[in-house]
Amino acid sequence: MHTDWDTIIIGAGAAGLFCAPFAAAGGKRVLVIDHAAKPGEKIRISGGGRCNFTNMHAEPANFTGQNRHFHKSALARYTQWDFIELIDRASIAWHEKTLGQLFCDGKSTQIVDLLVRNLLDAGAELRLSTTVQIVARTDAGFALETTVGTLTCKNLVLATGGKSIPKMGATGFAYDIARQFGHEVIEPRPALVPLTFPEGRFASLSGVSLPVRVWTDRARFDEAMLFTHRGLSGPAILQISSFWREGEPIHIDLAGGRDLFTTLRNQRQAEGRRQISTELARHLPARLVEFLTADLADRFDLTARLADQSDTALRALTDQLSDWTLTPSGSEGYRTAEVTLGGIDTGGIDSRSMMSKTVHGLYFIGECVDVTGWLGGFNFQWAWSSAHAAGQHI
Ligand code: FDA
Repeated sequence: MHTDWDTIIIGAGAAGLFCAPFAAAGGKRVLVIDHAAKPGEKIRISGGGRCNFTNMHAEPANFTGQNRHFHKSALARYTQWDFIELIDRASIAWHEKTLGQLFCDGKSTQIVDLLVRNLLDAGAELRLSTTVQIVARTDAGFALETTVGTLTCKNLVLATGGKSIPKMGATGFAYDIARQFGHEVIEPRPALVPLTFPEGRFASLSGVSLPVRVWTDRARFDEAMLFTHRGLSGPAILQISSFWREGEPIHIDLAGGRDLFTTLRNQRQAEGRRQISTELARHLPARLVEFLTADLADRFDLTARLADQSDTALRALTDQLSDWTLTPSGSEGYRTAEVTLGGIDTGGIDSRSMMSKTVHGLYFIGECVDVTGWLGGFNFQWAWSSAHAAGQHI
């Protein structure tokens, strides 16, 4: 194996694999290394094994980070339509599931295979089960002490992702190297993650799912919510977890934005003799109504007749159901988080090239950067777009 490379990319995940063919254009020597035994493991398990590889509606507003503008340039120069074209050219069949989320019809390994094929076709090399121990600056670029010896390169691309799912080999490596070279790191935290509640709080509701509107001061989502043994999950909760902070409440409209007050008032005329709970169960899962009957008993008697409720009483009840305010005790953490919020401060990175503003030839791409997408294919789109920006510049 050569020891002297034009570019070494550390991390054979979505961003690293995708970057390699661009960086190798014009016959430049590119090596991708990863400590894992297989490339693209997160792609393989993503989207329930079918990889939600992008989102048709992807736009800058679907991403968060300290700088709300940083990601615009890369996303504009390599869009979801560019990736869809690539997938189409490779005859990988796909479909839209919901909300613009695009999934493979078959296994997500088709995407890994395509990326590896493109990398090899471009003349780049892939070296797995290789650990980087030390990274040092040299006059000509960088020197890496690795388990296969010393490797040198002009350009070094950090594509080692975030800390989510350590069991799959996720590390804070990119953050450590960034700090070593004087970059700031915005405190990483688990995101797109289920929220937990004190033991047993929702145990009787485990498995119940319903469409809700969920919000904090910073964001609002209309998606499905799922009760679990340990707390709340489902797309709505994963989405809001990226905007929630410890100790803060989340707000849930159990009617999912529908006007429950008018509905119940109309039902009061037609079905007034029935219990409120019976009528509520026409709009909410029966098990949830049963739970609320006990949970709200000190303020509302859901076993009372609908006909006996004044408009004011109905309004108080429906206000409560449309703004169910809960304070999670925590989150499931990196063990199950789909992404890591925070990361390498974009203030130190050039948004057009993804190159460090202070260390020439040092690039950061993908999830390790302080750009985090919503749930729904946005994080892979960021991996593709940022990798393309760096690869083109190299
Ligand atoms: P990625 O994590 O893909 O790759 C990093 C690579 O670096 C890995 O191969 C790792 O082994 C390697 N590495 C780490 N530390 C190293 C070290 N010290 N030395 C050498 N190598 C090292 N997103 C989306 O858009 N749609 C989806 O459907 C899903 N689904 C999904 C499901 C699950 C369960 C998870 C955990 C995540 C998702 N995501 C997702 C998020 C998506 O997987 C993620 O944002 C991208 O994979 C990030 O791509 P990167 O290449 O930046 O990191």
